[in-house]
Amino acid sequence: MGKSTVAVNLALALKHQGYSVGILDSDVYGPSIRKMLSEERPPAQKGQLLVPASCHGISMISMAHFRHTSEATVVRAPIANNIINQFIQGVDWGTLDYLIIDFPPGTGDIQLTLCQQANLTGAIIVTTPQEVAILDVRKAMQMFDQLKVPIIGIIENMSCYYHPKTDERICLFGSGGGRKLADQSGVPFLGEVPIDPEICRCGDAGEALIPQKGEITSASAKAFLAIAQHAVNEIETLKEQSQGSLQNIELAWKEMP
Ligand SMILES: Nc1ncnc2c1ncn2[C@@H]1O[C@H](COP(=O)(O)OP(=O)(O)OP(=O)(O)O)[C@@H](O)[C@H]1O
Ligand SMILES: [Mg+2]
Repeated sequence: MGKSTVAVNLALALKHQGYSVGILDSDVYGPSIRKMLSEERPPAQKGQLLVPASCHGISMISMAHFRHTSEATVVRAPIANNIINQFIQGVDWGTLDYLIIDFPPGTGDIQLTLCQQANLTGAIIVTTPQEVAILDVRKAMQMFDQLKVPIIGIIENMSCYYHPKTDERICLFGSGGGRKLADQSGVPFLGEVPIDPEICRCGDAGEALIPQKGEITSASAKAFLAIAQHAVNEIETLKEQSQGSLQNIELAWKEMP
């Protein structure tokens, strides 16, 4: 689907918009964020806490900081959960506007721990347009629903490919699946990301698709910036709604004898 790719580029887009951003790679068994974001400063120990690495000005921690790239992490679920808890509580994240957590695929133990213990503002769903992908995504949405994690919105990745010479829009995996899912589920559709070899190249090289300075020219970088802005707006709406419900609780309390 491109979950990690979207997580990295949303982080870069938010940073570009002036927010302070962190990214927690919760994929203990298959971490990829460290590969996708080259570091200007590695993590460091500060007393009992760990100071995250800094990549393009973004704070980041990943299992890849504790294992060699080619070394598999072979641990049972309780150990993986312990690692996740340490990433949440044992890292000095400082004051961030947004902490993006890149989830592993599926609806397993790590996802459950994060939903129950990380006090999530909400989940952003990444899908590709085809039905088979949407089948999996619906399951993830059910998990968030069951665990009372609000859904911020849906992003359709690899929506289409623009022919480099003719600019013709070619929908390799069909079209409209993400928007249809959003409409059916009553959640916001945050936008589409095209298939762009540059996205893949930047991910492999650890380079930033969205530069922090200078003009943004690439269509995919512009797509991520628009999606990030849309997500920020939806998060503000969610916050207002949750404050509204807190006020209701307070009113009910005041009415009690
Ligand atoms: N829009 C895109 N255009 C081109 N390549 C893309 C795009 N989105 C993702 N990719 C590429 O697809 C590959 C898989 O992406 P990624 O690792 O982000 O997926 P994932 O959903 O996080 O996978 P996993 O479930 O294994 O964690 C990467 O090589 C990435 O560069
Ligand atoms: Mg991933």
